[in-house]
Amino acid sequence: MDKIIIEGGYKLKGSLKISGAKNAALPILAACLLTDEVSVIENVPRLVDIYTMIKILKALSVKVDFNKDKIVVKPGKFSRYIAPYRLVSTMRASICVLGPLLAKLGHARVSMPGGCVIGSRPIDLHLKGLKFLGANIKIEHGYIKAEAKRLKGNVVYLGGAFGSSVLATANVMMAATLARGKTVIENAACEPEIVDLGNFLIKMGAKIEGLGSNIIGIEGVKKLKGVKHKIIPDRIEAGTYMIAAALTGGEVDLKGARPEQMGVVIDKLRQSGVVVKNKPGGIYIKRTRRRLRPLEITTLPFPGFPTDLQAQFAAFLSLIKGISIIREKIYPRRFMHINELNRMGACIKLERDSAIIEGTNFLSGAPVMASDLRASAALVLAGLVAKGRTEISRIYHLDRGYERLEEKLSGIGARIWREKA
Ligand code: EPZ
Repeated sequence: MDKIIIEGGYKLKGSLKISGAKNAALPILAACLLTDEVSVIENVPRLVDIYTMIKILKALSVKVDFNKDKIVVKPGKFSRYIAPYRLVSTMRASICVLGPLLAKLGHARVSMPGGCVIGSRPIDLHLKGLKFLGANIKIEHGYIKAEAKRLKGNVVYLGGAFGSSVLATANVMMAATLARGKTVIENAACEPEIVDLGNFLIKMGAKIEGLGSNIIGIEGVKKLKGVKHKIIPDRIEAGTYMIAAALTGGEVDLKGARPEQMGVVIDKLRQSGVVVKNKPGGIYIKRTRRRLRPLEITTLPFPGFPTDLQAQFAAFLSLIKGISIIREKIYPRRFMHINELNRMGACIKLERDSAIIEGTNFLSGAPVMASDLRASAALVLAGLVAKGRTEISRIYHLDRGYERLEEKLSGIGARIWREKA
């Protein structure tokens, strides 16, 4: 297994281009199943999770070509409706083929996605929503078996114990596009990735209103068509590189980043004392002060602070004098990065769903182990600023969500490279 090596202590300076959003591309690729016609998806990042979704579409006998950043999906009269365990178990987001399969074919067999290190990852809200649309759902031998002659519109409340659900909103919204009558999703997710999915569905001919709000209305139609669509930029990738610039005392232009997707992240960085400017076509970030201010952060559904940037902020706050607090309200156990950051010299204590961070003067490079996608990103950030060398193993986690990470960081002055282990 490969590892990433980082020689810390270099300021990042320059500009880099933000890739398309993984978490928009995944449900949009699933949405291509809603029509027989060809769809062309542009600005798709080359990531392991994208390749997994392509494998799932191919397992459903859908033709898929991936050239450069463009994916051509040719469903035709595809008939297979089983998303196998060997693929679904490697990527939870595979669950978002369930709604489209049910709406298009009237049946679906999707392996239960299982949990991961950040939490148990239940799917009760997905199943609740599809049952409200008239689906008959059973769980047998680790598979979701769903049947529905024709789905029927309904009002469904999709809020769970931790607020709205991104992919449950995606699944129900996609299924509702071909249901008979009107569906209203209450406590829907407002994430930009859901808005991008909704805009893709509207281009296909779906009738959707309320995107970006907690109430989404979908009027079912008989048929959808294949379309061309460009994926929005990845706000989590952008946030990760903003922190890299702030941590290393650098000055970076993030081309393609959209400030309107990142209000709370920009606000928090400004609160800490980092300069963030919204520029045409991107975001400019510069650290001008040696001493920054500690922060209090609570992760919440959009437009609240994104849980997918929580680990990266923990690395950032570990070097800010004073006491910072991070409350993780979406995945209360999402702290796999803390032990490894502490091994690098951070001083972070866990109390239930909160991390209490006492800023230290420096971090030391060390051999560390990645555990999940965003925890791995936090270790990269820590390595960029640590004294000495950091070696990160199990970096397949990183390859799931960051396109050409070493290349982008090296391009702005980082000493980072990949070695065959
Ligand atoms: C999406 O996952 C993202 N993944 C996650 O990003 C992100 O962390 C998460 O949303 C929250 O923003 C993709 O979009 C592919 P949820 P999703 O359903 O949809 C609970 C990354 O790093 N819940 O919004 O699976 C759940 O346990 C990944 O790119 C239920 O209780 O997350 C969590 O506490 C990691 N029942 C909360 O809701 C359900 O049926 C939010 O989860 C579904 C979810």
